[in-house]
Amino acid sequence: MPERKPLISGNWKMHMNHLEAIQLIQKLSYALDHADYAATDVSIHPPFTNLRSAQTVIDADSIPIALGAQHCHWEESGAFTGEVSPAMLAKLAVSYVIAGHSERRQLFGETDENVNRRLKAILAAGMIPIMCCGETLDEREADQTETRITTQVDAGLAGLKRDQVGAMVIAYEPVWAIGTGHTATPADAQAGCALIRDRVRANFGADAAASVRVQYGGSVKPVNVAELMAQTDIDGALVGGASLEVDSFSRIVRFRLQ
Ligand code: 13P
Repeated sequence: MPERKPLISGNWKMHMNHLEAIQLIQKLSYALDHADYAATDVSIHPPFTNLRSAQTVIDADSIPIALGAQHCHWEESGAFTGEVSPAMLAKLAVSYVIAGHSERRQLFGETDENVNRRLKAILAAGMIPIMCCGETLDEREADQTETRITTQVDAGLAGLKRDQVGAMVIAYEPVWAIGTGHTATPADAQAGCALIRDRVRANFGADAAASVRVQYGGSVKPVNVAELMAQTDIDGALVGGASLEVDSFSRIVRFRLQ
């Protein structure tokens, strides 16, 4: 079975201007060392307006943190006011792009179908998608968790190649756990991540299932990260609030020491 290197990703959401971003990245680079990067991949996903500044500081100081984006359009260019294309992100040395975050699904009308188009465009531009899925509280209470995750994973990944899926990242983010302080229990987080891997196995085979990295997201903090990361099918974390402070994010990256 291939070794899956953990990936800890900071989703900054709509926080930080470009000057604050430069400061946070520099402080993170002082807090983390080569042993951390050797053990764990780290990505940060600042707002679009910060990407150029972030790229410049990462490049100038050779910081082994991968640059990520939070969203993109699927077309390469065109009349899409307010949107940013995968090619534009790739040009800024962006490595990972989040697609289908629940906030985009709920607040900006993103559907499984356009998440799927986005994934194909991100892959075509040579970047790695982080596809988010997860159930709402209503769906969980109505016993719809499994159906919801299955639908999102099957529809989101439709038409992708086995090796593309095997190299990508899928994040299980139960909507009720995001920004609420109500982390899923390690057992619930594991169940969601295992279901995602099962769907990948059913649709794309054992090799893709063995290598796809599955993150958990939703109120991940230094106090709960170690127990989450100890679960068999959890290969990383997609961190919101706790990624905005150098102390909490670096402690999450160092989850083995918590
Ligand atoms: P919080 O860590 O703030 O709950 O956010 C999780 C999230 O949505 C990451 O994408």
